[in-house]
Amino acid sequence: MSVTPIRLFGDPVLHRPAAPVVDFDAELRRLVDDLTDTMQAAGGAGLAAPQIGVGLRVFTWYVDGEVGHLVNPEVAPVGEEVQDGPEGCLSIPALRYDCRRHLHVVATGWNVHGDPVRVEGSELLARAIQHETDHLDGVLFVERLADADRAAALAEIRAAEWNGHGSYLPVVKVSPH
Ligand code: NI
Repeated sequence: MSVTPIRLFGDPVLHRPAAPVVDFDAELRRLVDDLTDTMQAAGGAGLAAPQIGVGLRVFTWYVDGEVGHLVNPEVAPVGEEVQDGPEGCLSIPALRYDCRRHLHVVATGWNVHGDPVRVEGSELLARAIQHETDHLDGVLFVERLADADRAAALAEIRAAEWNGHGSYLPVVKVSPH
């Protein structure tokens, strides 16, 4: 396990675009392992490299029991349908707001070995892919909220106990059975 501290809202690495991956090497494999372990320890549906302090275009997801990752993703909507539903972010603990997203997307990119990958997703997978791709562009989901919700979310963040702490190490949840 390589559970890594998760950066919190306000850390500059979360608010600037990440750089494309150039080398598909052992360091990239370790990054994908760290993202996967940290995401699962935190119970998240997705995690992007900037959230563990690495400014590279890589993210992982865990949706419907399936773990995946994408390197240098490009995402496009499929059709016009949208979904409104609750969204959160491991870099903004405990905050949840309804966020509008495309219902269906297609993502293309590469796996950790440098093979081309194409992923089609709907509902929660589509939401996770859009949320994590935003992270790679330095965009957090609160910036996607309607004006009133965004103002309320930012006020909640300013008042949060964790605000100013920089990062936290997710506590691995151990099943009682
Ligand atoms: Ni997030």
